[in-house]
Amino acid sequence: MLHKDIKKVLITAEEIQKRTDEIAARISKDYEGEPILMVCILRGAVLFFADLVRKINAEINFDFMAVSSYGAGLSSSGEVRIMKDISGPIQGKNVIIVEDIIDSGNTLCYLKRLLKQRHPKSIRIAALLDKPERREADIEGDYIGFKVPNEFVVGYGLDYNEKYRNLPDVCVLKPEVYEK
Ligand code: IMP
Ligand code: MG
Repeated sequence: MLHKDIKKVLITAEEIQKRTDEIAARISKDYEGEPILMVCILRGAVLFFADLVRKINAEINFDFMAVSSYGAGLSSSGEVRIMKDISGPIQGKNVIIVEDIIDSGNTLCYLKRLLKQRHPKSIRIAALLDKPERREADIEGDYIGFKVPNEFVVGYGLDYNEKYRNLPDVCVLKPEVYEK
């Protein structure tokens, strides 16, 4: 049964798992035998990260970063603040940043530039969703789950005002939810 605030399901939990399998297989192949530092961007990427890492066949370490580019609401402020940095040096490591969605691209553009200055061996981006119509920054993901239309989405980690992250599918909210 659908949550009362949901207008429609855009991507089902099943589709997400199938696509995550494919991305994990690609990553396993691309990094063959090389260790990877997987960096989860809190909080939106948590579920994607958890499902993705367990499907990758490689030596993996975890780290976590929290950034804030949004206040409450639907659009990016363009300003990125680091709320929590990764816990160790990344020099000489293969880093994959795992994000929930690339929207304007400002967050990932900033993050990638920041981490590059720390001299990793390589740095790539895995994002569950991509909203190319909204792009402002010159950035592309290396591993993308799904392209989505210019609609605000929630579920499978993504929130609206910190709600709906636990929904198993990627969904569109009813318009009246935003009007409240
Ligand atoms: P960007 O800097 O505009 O690319 O925004 C990236 C961040 O904005 C993501 O990590 C999300 O937290 C948030 N975001 C962008 N679009 C959506 C959406 O449709 N639903 C939920 N969060 C979103
Ligand atoms: Mg967010």
